[in-house]
Amino acid sequence: MATINKCLFPAAGYGTRFLPATKAMPKEMLPIVTKPLIQYGVEEAMEAGITDMAIVTGRGKRSLEDHFDISYELEHQIAGSAKEELLAETRAIMESCSFSYTRQVEMRGLGHAISVGGKLIGREPFAVILADDYCVTEGPGVLAQMVALYERFGCSVVAIEEVPKNETYRYGVIEGVEEEPGIIRISNMVEKPTPEDAPSNLAVIGRYVLTPEIFDILDNTPPGKNNEIQITDALLTQAQRGNAIGYKFKGRRFDCGSVEGFIDATNYTFQKTQIEKQ
Ligand code: UTP
Repeated sequence: MATINKCLFPAAGYGTRFLPATKAMPKEMLPIVTKPLIQYGVEEAMEAGITDMAIVTGRGKRSLEDHFDISYELEHQIAGSAKEELLAETRAIMESCSFSYTRQVEMRGLGHAISVGGKLIGREPFAVILADDYCVTEGPGVLAQMVALYERFGCSVVAIEEVPKNETYRYGVIEGVEEEPGIIRISNMVEKPTPEDAPSNLAVIGRYVLTPEIFDILDNTPPGKNNEIQITDALLTQAQRGNAIGYKFKGRRFDCGSVEGFIDATNYTFQKTQIEKQ
């Protein structure tokens, strides 16, 4: 079975919850302490054995490309000083990974962004990271956990977590049968349901391993909730074929697309770095 070589980062959204910060800057460049969200995402993909990073960008998102490129002037300026070390991690990423980019011209939803990114992926299974969901773990990263599951099951895998019932309206919510502890064969999925319509409190978060069949399904998926092409609707089609599982990942997720989640992630990471320094 093919292992996962490519990770897609849909990063074309407007990030309206972070205005005015995101007026001229992508939300994925917001830093958790000193490192931008996109870099945490790329590091998580690398830890899962992935070296091909495919980023779906949009207007005003050039800084994403610049971040993973050489900055001659700056690097010349700090060469030989202690500050050089601050760019070491980013340089190491650039040396071991390849980056490709495509633009989503019209923001027609996450499903559409994944479909647009398909040109960078081709016909192979692939991972998806929404970098505004920042995940921390004690052991292997969330994506590494999911790639291991893909290798066992050979079908699409989505990361899920329990959320309070009154928050289901913010997520795709699944229903299904728990085949093993934490592994649920999905039978139904609903995008952003009200608490009354939610089939469970198991919400999909921004980590996926998808089989290439998803691209054909997306091509035939009409706009759904909010008139956007929803990955949830395409995954429902896969689920109805028995080809999608939900995985209660081990770790903690911060919703950095929301101000509260972003502040929590910042506090958590800052405290952790202070403890590590001691
Ligand atoms: P969000 O629902 O968080 O939307 O998208 P958003 O536009 O980024 O943020 P808000 O709600 O306006 O504050 C989930 C993910 O899907 C990507 C976003 O970049 C984000 O990573 N996305 C969404 C696209 O790439 N294209 C789209 O058309 C929509």
